[in-house]
Amino acid sequence: MTTTSPFVDDLIRDRRTKRGFLDRPVSIDTVKEILSAAKYAPSSSNSQPWRCYVLTGETRQRITASAVEAYRASPESLAPEYPFFPQPLHEPYITRFNSFRGMLGDAQGCCRTDKEGRRRDVERQFLFFDAPVGIIFTMDRRLEWASFLCYGCFLQNIMLAAKGRGLDTCPQQIWALQHQLLRAELNLPEDQMIVAGMSLGWADNSLPENQMSIGKLQLEEFTTFLS
Ligand SMILES: Cc1cc2nc3c(=O)[nH]c(=O)nc-3n(C[C@H](O)[C@H](O)[C@H](O)COP(=O)(O)O)c2cc1C
Repeated sequence: MTTTSPFVDDLIRDRRTKRGFLDRPVSIDTVKEILSAAKYAPSSSNSQPWRCYVLTGETRQRITASAVEAYRASPESLAPEYPFFPQPLHEPYITRFNSFRGMLGDAQGCCRTDKEGRRRDVERQFLFFDAPVGIIFTMDRRLEWASFLCYGCFLQNIMLAAKGRGLDTCPQQIWALQHQLLRAELNLPEDQMIVAGMSLGWADNSLPENQMSIGKLQLEEFTTFLS
């Protein structure tokens, strides 16, 4: 029998993406604690490719307002700095994608063909779902795929360190669509690319979209045991 740490397992299981936050502040010291813990993430040859921009207060207000404005002005002109999914998407991912989008749409009260509902959802994304803290993550674009793996470890550490403090998160690659705006606002050098954003705050668990029970694969569906 191996000894396990149920606390860590619980944190991993209980972390779920939240898409609506309370109007309750998060202290900057707490954000510093979370990022200081997350920095112990493993990375290829200790390369630590992460760079974080923590947006709060007036800066957060200004950037979110500009992001919504840019989206409203020309939604189709916003393109990410790296592809999110292959086009066309193939199975089994189409089924999983549709099931997730359907569940989220039901929770938000809109269907897949509801363009107005989709627009509202994207605007909420660019408002960090009202979370008091928004974080933008960048990386040197000259790095390769391995650095995205490292980044994933770092992002998960942030989400778990937040959860351990009773806070919740939404990782948001959608912020990569706003690279032009963010480049100007954050004064980013050309070699830095936008990897993702993240909403961080106290989840409003009264919202249906924060009560979704997203299914996960069974162990045997993604693991082959060879002995
Ligand atoms: C790299 C990454 C990017 C994501 N980007 C977004 C995003 O832009 N907007 C969003 O609402 N959710 C985003 N998510 C959250 C996923 O939709 C969510 O993790 C997935 O549906 C599973 O739900 P769970 O996190 O509650 O287990 C992202 C997740 C990851 C790991």
